[in-house]
Amino acid sequence: MRMVLLGAPGSGKGTQGEKLVGHYGIPKISTGDALRAAVAAGTELGRKAKATMDAGQLVADDIVIGIVEERLGQPDARKGFVLDGFPRNTAQAQVLDTMLQRLGQPAVDKVVHLAVADEEIIKRLLERARKEGRADDKEDVIRRRIEVYNAETHPLLDYYRAQNKVVTVDGVGELETVFDRIVKALG
Ligand code: AP5
Repeated sequence: MRMVLLGAPGSGKGTQGEKLVGHYGIPKISTGDALRAAVAAGTELGRKAKATMDAGQLVADDIVIGIVEERLGQPDARKGFVLDGFPRNTAQAQVLDTMLQRLGQPAVDKVVHLAVADEEIIKRLLERARKEGRADDKEDVIRRRIEVYNAETHPLLDYYRAQNKVVTVDGVGELETVFDRIVKALG
């Protein structure tokens, strides 16, 4: 199974992605996690990305494309993957298609769209800010991330709908309930 998780910030991509890893036995590739690890490690890439991430904007396409290409080329990704946070705009989606061809891998099978209303997202992320203090979980930055999602990422649904790959799942409810909905929708 080669799937993309698509949803607004805080819609549960990371949380459900972890559960899908266990269920399907495939790796999760999260550009957000990779970027945060680079920031924490103080690498040049992390230094380049930090201010953009803290402002709730998308980092440059070439940076995230490099991360994904390197990870998709590893042997464990040959049997499938869960992409969390990539692609995030149409240019990235087009690059992903050609990247998979170049790597000799089949195309993305399914795009799971996690639908969650903005007010629930803001509530979740402010709660996470209280517990974990993630740098971009500040209310003004959360609102900016939602704006960026609506402008840049949400249109990707049309890109993948044209390929008949989108399943939309209600992302509100207990974690297990949402997970069961995803697995059922994937068939
Ligand atoms: P990224 O890490 O991808 O962040 P995001 O899209 O803003 O998503 P989050 O990680 O905040 O939320 P999520 O949907 O994974 O939900 P989660 O499971 O964590 O990206 C961060 C930044 O990196 C971007 O802003 C950008 O700068 C850069 N970046 C990353 N990828 C990029 C790309 N491709 N191109 C360019 N830039 C890129 O859950 C959120 C919270 O809600 C958690 O506390 C969780 O416990 C809780 N929760 C989850 N599910 C439920 C539920 N059902 N009920 C109640 N609470 C729940």
